[in-house]
Amino acid sequence: MIKLHDPDLFRNAALIDGQWLARSELDVTNPATGDVLGQLPDCTAEETTAAIAAAERAMAGWRARTHVQRADILMRWYQLMLENTEDLAQILTAEQGKPLSESRTEVAYGASFVRWFAEEARRINGKIIPSPVAGKKIFAMKEPVGVCAIITPWNFPIAMITRKVAPGLAAGCTMVVKPSDFTPYSALALAVLAARAGIPAGVLNILTGRPEVIGATLTASSVVRKLSFTGSTRVGALLAEQCAPTLKRMSLELGGNAPFVVFDDADLDAAVEGAMVSKFRNGGQTCVCANRIMVQSGIHDAFVAALAAKVDALKVGPGTQADVSVGPMINTAATDKINAHVADALAKGATRVTQPRSLPAQYADPVVLTGAHPAMRLAGEETFGPVAPIFRFETEAEALALANGTPFGLAAYFYTRDMARAFRFGEALEFGMVGLNTGALSHEVSPFGGVKSSGLGREGAQEGIEEYLETKAFHFGGL
Ligand code: SIN
Repeated sequence: MIKLHDPDLFRNAALIDGQWLARSELDVTNPATGDVLGQLPDCTAEETTAAIAAAERAMAGWRARTHVQRADILMRWYQLMLENTEDLAQILTAEQGKPLSESRTEVAYGASFVRWFAEEARRINGKIIPSPVAGKKIFAMKEPVGVCAIITPWNFPIAMITRKVAPGLAAGCTMVVKPSDFTPYSALALAVLAARAGIPAGVLNILTGRPEVIGATLTASSVVRKLSFTGSTRVGALLAEQCAPTLKRMSLELGGNAPFVVFDDADLDAAVEGAMVSKFRNGGQTCVCANRIMVQSGIHDAFVAALAAKVDALKVGPGTQADVSVGPMINTAATDKINAHVADALAKGATRVTQPRSLPAQYADPVVLTGAHPAMRLAGEETFGPVAPIFRFETEAEALALANGTPFGLAAYFYTRDMARAFRFGEALEFGMVGLNTGALSHEVSPFGGVKSSGLGREGAQEGIEEYLETKAFHFGGL
């Protein structure tokens, strides 16, 4: 049992058209203990269709509200999230595993999108285009896309919802949300707070259950005009295929394989600190976390020693324990993959420079490996865990080829104090987000998204709301 100040936030039910639908069909477990947290309905195709119909009915009333009215409701939702931080963090850690301190940070991060898009709601401006024909004016007007399907992952069960739902609601769209079946309770708690903030029935629907049937029904529907998904490139491509017959707008935030490049002239302490932040946030279970750490020869040994000392000092354990910095992985399939990447790297010549720990099966050992090279699995695939492989390089050209040598293009980081190189290298990186002398890229004000196999579209920032808006050209004649 999770101890909450407000137990009403913990719902064992899906939400369709303002009605809570309880059925004990699917277990949700705590990844740290294996305890069952509760049971939820495995929503059917008919229930998914009912949620889509509810969202369609709610559209007219929601889009008819003024931007200020929608913004005011979103601001109340933002305030309620902050006021309920502790309960939201407890729910998040119980179902996802991350340390409570990180869960609190995620609540603030998630809430920041609600506030940002409440503010942006008031700036949905069109434009007037001078007409080439006398007596005519042309307006480019912004309108909501319509009913949106939102499919979110387990690694950020709050922030990935608000980053999609808040701009959609601000724009005047209505939502059918399918959170990960590993982490549905955060989404349901957010929906309770959204209703308290004044979001009307049908505007925000939450479907629980397995992804196949719900996803297929959402993508096949011609009522759903947009799909936003965060998850793997494989599933993103499948959803794109399913959306093709109804030509939906799509935003896809998919896999990454972030390079983290440290040049000889870098500030060593800052680079090590940045690598810790980027690599070990959420135990390495982020799409933007450093997957390949590339270090130039002259600074290599000092960097490895400093990083290994910090990694050895990381405390691994349940997220509810105060001093823990790496919680359990989401499930044992995840730890199996991480362990397989480490074993493959060791078999292909890597050296472990951190102390091995003996941990229960739900935990992954935070590890620094030297001697990494492109033939290893961890060079080509996202490890999604606390593994820091170090690739040694000699020249800038070599580092660039290594960094760009991936089909993915989400995030990249590099450390240098040479300003000419900063621009040269930063511009040559084929990624949607680049961090120079920083390991953190995630802010509500900054466009988040990737190129190549990392997806389509941008979230957050001014760009984020455009993903939920259509432009209508309105021609006025006879003036
Ligand atoms: C992700 O891992 O998909 C999102 C990470 C972030 O927003 O920082």
